[in-house]
Amino acid sequence: MERILVLPGDGIGPEVTREARRVLEAAAGRHDLKLEYEEAAIGGASIDACGTPLADAVVEQARACRALLLGAVGGPKWDAMPVDTRPEKGLLRIRKELGLFANLRPATVFPALAGASSLRPELVEGIDLLVVRELTGGIYFGEPRGRALVSGRREARNTMVYDEREVARIARVAFEAAAGRRRHLTHVHKANVLEVSQLWIEVVEEVARDFPDVELHHQLVDSAAMLLVRDPRRFDVLVTGNLFGDILSDEAAMITGSLGMLPSASLGEGGIGLYEPVHGSAPDIAGQDAANPLATILSVAMLLEHSLGASAAAADVRAAVSAVLGAGHRTADLAGAGEIAIGCTAMGDHVLAALAAG
Ligand code: IPM
Ligand code: MG
Repeated sequence: MERILVLPGDGIGPEVTREARRVLEAAAGRHDLKLEYEEAAIGGASIDACGTPLADAVVEQARACRALLLGAVGGPKWDAMPVDTRPEKGLLRIRKELGLFANLRPATVFPALAGASSLRPELVEGIDLLVVRELTGGIYFGEPRGRALVSGRREARNTMVYDEREVARIARVAFEAAAGRRRHLTHVHKANVLEVSQLWIEVVEEVARDFPDVELHHQLVDSAAMLLVRDPRRFDVLVTGNLFGDILSDEAAMITGSLGMLPSASLGEGGIGLYEPVHGSAPDIAGQDAANPLATILSVAMLLEHSLGASAAAADVRAAVSAVLGAGHRTADLAGAGEIAIGCTAMGDHVLAALAAG
């Protein structure tokens, strides 16, 4: 019996995790996987319930689980709070506490959605890239940080810091991923300005010696951002630090058609995986059954593959999503002019039907 902890979070989080859990239950049932579900609060929901974005008890609960399925955190209700107590802190803390340093964000284009991209279809068809983002270090966690009043002026600081061990382990994850794909790795950096990036280049080069079959390029982050919209198909695997990875993964997501499609996996050395959509809590459409659950459903596919070793079940889920899109079903974020938009629950129903048929 494998334990799965569902963390719905805020905004559209509860809606998309509900659909994703139904799909997980169905896929697991078809492949004889025995799963046990628990649910807990994170983010704003947890602040409202117990005054903190992540309770210690939930961290302990998570440690006893095989995998975590998370919706999204944050919303206008908590926007005025200082960063240290905000909903987002709950997410950052669970990543850190569980040592989930490797964030995998694959961006692929479903043929049926090539027209939904803001780029021309001929630039988009066939995009298949993977952003490997370092998730527990860098400027997100560096000390010192905080605000101060200096000579009567408000000042704030954050620190970007990486040590060689943190860089080497994420580089290794990225090289291994590239070795199993098209054997091309782009390291994204800002070494013309940042010492941190110079260290990354050194360490990534050292790790590269163990992967002679993988072709390595170092790309400045500004030009990587530009190349992603000019010629996204040139990329196979990208590896980068926490902040650049956050930004570039949203960009990569958008060029595939919608932020509502991109799944992610966060992995570490402890054997627990955290799965969540790349998109946020979308408070503007929360509670209206208008969200796209596919990013979370595709995160379930990653969960099946990475945490449960059930690649056949994962393939079933992806095939079901592809079939539903191929049949023309679209949530509002995906619907083009003249296309009918269906709701979050209806989209979940279609995926379940496709799964049962497949
Ligand atoms: C993401 C999100 C988070 C991040 C926020 C919600 C803290 O943007 O997972 O990409 O910056 O890591
Ligand atoms: Mg982000």
